[in-house]
Amino acid sequence: MADHVLARLTLAERASLTSGESLWRTQAIERAGIPSITLSDGPHGVRRQPDGGDHLGVGHSLPATCFPPAVALGSSWDATLVRTVGEALGREARAMDVQVLLGPGVNIKRSPLCGRNFEYFSEDPRLSGVLGAALVLGIQAQGVGAAVKHFAANNQETDRLRVSAEVDERTLREIYLSAFQHVVTVARPWMVMSAYNRLNGVYTSEHRWLLTEVLREEWDFRGVVVSDWGAVDDRVAALRAGLDLEMPTSGGGTDASLVAAAETGALDPALLDVSAQRVLDLVGKAVPYPGESFDAEAHHRLAREVAGQCAVLLKNEGVLPLRPEASVAVVGELARSPRYQGAGSSQIVPTRLDDVVSEMSALAGRELAFAPGYRLDDQERNPALEEEAVRLAGNAEVTVVCVGLPGEEESEGYDRTHLDLPAGQLALLEAVAATGTRVVVVLSNGGVVRVAGWDHLTAAVLEGWLLGQAGGGAIADILYGVANPSGRLAETIPLRLEDTASYLNFPGELGTVRYAEGVFVGYRYHDAIGGEVSYPFGHGLSYTEFAYDELDVRVRGEGEEMVVKVSARVTNVGERAGREVVQVYVAAPSANVRRPERELRAFQKVALAPGESTTLRFTLAFGDFAYFHPVRRLWTIEPGAATVHVGASSRDLRLSGTLELPGTLPRVVVTPDSPLADWIAVPGGLEVLRREMRPPAETGQPHSRFLNDSALRMAASVPLRRLARFPGAYLDPERLETLAAEVNGGADQLVIESR
Ligand code: BGC
Repeated sequence: MADHVLARLTLAERASLTSGESLWRTQAIERAGIPSITLSDGPHGVRRQPDGGDHLGVGHSLPATCFPPAVALGSSWDATLVRTVGEALGREARAMDVQVLLGPGVNIKRSPLCGRNFEYFSEDPRLSGVLGAALVLGIQAQGVGAAVKHFAANNQETDRLRVSAEVDERTLREIYLSAFQHVVTVARPWMVMSAYNRLNGVYTSEHRWLLTEVLREEWDFRGVVVSDWGAVDDRVAALRAGLDLEMPTSGGGTDASLVAAAETGALDPALLDVSAQRVLDLVGKAVPYPGESFDAEAHHRLAREVAGQCAVLLKNEGVLPLRPEASVAVVGELARSPRYQGAGSSQIVPTRLDDVVSEMSALAGRELAFAPGYRLDDQERNPALEEEAVRLAGNAEVTVVCVGLPGEEESEGYDRTHLDLPAGQLALLEAVAATGTRVVVVLSNGGVVRVAGWDHLTAAVLEGWLLGQAGGGAIADILYGVANPSGRLAETIPLRLEDTASYLNFPGELGTVRYAEGVFVGYRYHDAIGGEVSYPFGHGLSYTEFAYDELDVRVRGEGEEMVVKVSARVTNVGERAGREVVQVYVAAPSANVRRPERELRAFQKVALAPGESTTLRFTLAFGDFAYFHPVRRLWTIEPGAATVHVGASSRDLRLSGTLELPGTLPRVVVTPDSPLADWIAVPGGLEVLRREMRPPAETGQPHSRFLNDSALRMAASVPLRRLARFPGAYLDPERLETLAAEVNGGADQLVIESR
C-alpha cells in the first residue's frame, strides 16, 4: 500500500496496524479503507476457525484436506512434490478466505524427544530449507502468503515460552538459522514468525540481532515479522528489535504502550512507521478471492499420492509387496483408527479419513481378517484382544501389525520422555511373531520410535509417520505394490535415546538449554563418533534397485566465486519402476575447528523405469564447503582436499571424488604472542629463529635447545614472548617485533590460522 496511506493515519492508528484485532485477524481501519486480513494455521492443512475461534481447540475449524504433516513430507525428499502440496494448500486457503497460512515450520529436530517434531521436516538444515522453500513457493504461487516459523532455536516444547536456548554463533549459522536463510532468500515468504523462546538470554521476539541484523540486513527479508501467538513480552522492545506484528490481539493494551513510548520519545516513531508500512504492504498484497471453492476429492487423491511417496520402507526381507491373493491378517487398532496428524495448533478437521484395513481390503478385493490387538487409550497389554489377534495371525501367511504412538504421547506444548512404543503393543508384536506368521510392521508416529528391541521379529518394517487423511490408502498402495516406496529418512533412527547428541542437554535445566553438542546434530554426531544406529539418515528401500556410476566433479573459480559441478549417473537395475533419492554429501577439508565427517549439500529424487538411466547434475557453491569461523565471524574455507560423495544414504555412499580447495583464510601474520608452533609453520620461520636463538660460542650448541626436535613439540604452544623469558632460550625480547616483520614479509601465501 502506498506511503501516502500511512501519512493520513494518526499515531494510534499506526500502532493499531501492528497488532491483531482478534485471534486470527489483523486490525482494519475503515475510515482509511484498510481492510483486515486473516492468518490461519498451517502448515499441512488450513485450520480456518470462524471468528471467535479458540486457538488450540480444533472443534470449530472448517473441514480441509489434511495433507501429510512435515515429518512425512520431509521423508519425501521431493521439492517438486512438496511444492504441489503448497499449491493445493494455497487453493484451500483462498477458498476459506485465508490470506496467510502459518507455516512451514523449519526448526531442526535437535532431539527425537521434541513433542512437535511431527511439524518439522528434518534433523538436517539443507533438507529442511529446500522443502520449506518449496512449500512456500507453492502456497505463494496461489497469491496466498506463507509464514515460515519459529524463528529461531525453538527445538523443544518444555518451558517453551521462557527457556533460553544457549547456542554459539557457529552452531546457529550452520544448523539452526540455515534452513530459515534458505527459505527467506530462495522463496521470499511474506512473513517470518518469531519463536516463543529466548535465544542466548533474549526473547527471539525482542532479538535485534536475529530479527534485524541477520534477517533483514544480511538476508534482505522484506516482509512482516509476526510474533508467535502470545510470545510478546515487552511490546516496545519487540518493535524496536524488528517485530512488526503482535498476534493475537492484546485488546489494545500494548498498542497504547507503543503510543505512549512514541509520545515520550522512548520509541522513535519512525520505527513504528516502518513496521506499520510493512503491515500495510502485506495487507495490500493479501487480496480476497470471494466465491472460490476447492475440489476436495481431487485434493484427497493428491494427499494419497503424496503420502505414498513419504512412507519409508526401513526393512524388507522379500515379503513385500504382497500378492493380492496372499493370506493376510491385519492387527492393531491403528489399522482402523489411524493417527494421521499431531496435536496442537496444526490439528485440522479433515474432509475425510481413510484407514489401513478398509483400504487394504479394497485392494485385495475381499474383506481381510482384522483384530485390534490393543486399545489406544491403554498402554498396557490387553490379554483378550491379544489372544484374538494371535489367533488370526496363526492362520495367516503374513500379518500386518499396525503399531505406533498414542496421540497423547506427542503434541505441541510438551516433549516426550522416551522413544518406546507402548508395552501392550510390543507384547502383541512378540505374540504375533511367535505364531510363525511373517510379520510386516507398519508404524504411525510423529517422532522417532525405537525399533532396536523388536526389529528382529519382523520381515518388513514400513515407517508411515503421520501421513495425513489419505495415509490409510497410501499404506495399502505400498503394501500391495500399487505404489513403490520412495521415502527416505529425514532423521536418524538411533539404537537408543542415550545415543543421541543432545541426550545430556535436553530439555535443559533451570530455564536454560545448552546446545553443547554444537553442530553435531543427528547424523553429524553419529558419523563423528562412528556410532551404530538402527537406520541412518537418508535410508529407505524400494521394490527395485539402483546402480550409481560415472561421477564427475569439476571446480571452476575460486573463493566465494567457486562453483563445483557434480554429475553422476543412476540406473534402475531392477524390474519395477521406482524413485531414487540421490544424495550429495560433502566432506570438507580439515580445519582449525572440528567439522562434521560429511554434510548433506544437495539431493534430487528421480523416477526411473526398469533399465532406465539418467545423469543427475548438481551445482555446489562456496557455502557448501565453508564453515562459519567463530572468531572471524565469516564463512571460511581452509585449504586442503574436500570429498564429494554421492549415495543412497549418509552411510551408503556409492561414489566419491576429491577436489583441492585453496582456502579463503586471509594471510595470517605472526606476532610476538603467537605460539612457537605458528612461528615455525611460516615458511622460513624456523630458519630465522635458529639464526636468532643462538647460545654463546663456548656451549658448542648451534642454537637454543628449545629448537631441537624433541623440545620443539613440548614448547610448541608457548607464545614466543614468554619463551624469550626462559633461561636457555637465548632470544632477545627487544627483537621480537623486528623478527615478526621479517617472518611475515616472507609469508605471502600463508594460510594457517594463528591460534
Ligand atoms: C504455535 C504456532 C501457531 C500459533 C497460532 C502457536 O502456539 O506455536 O505454530 O502458528 O500458535 O496457532
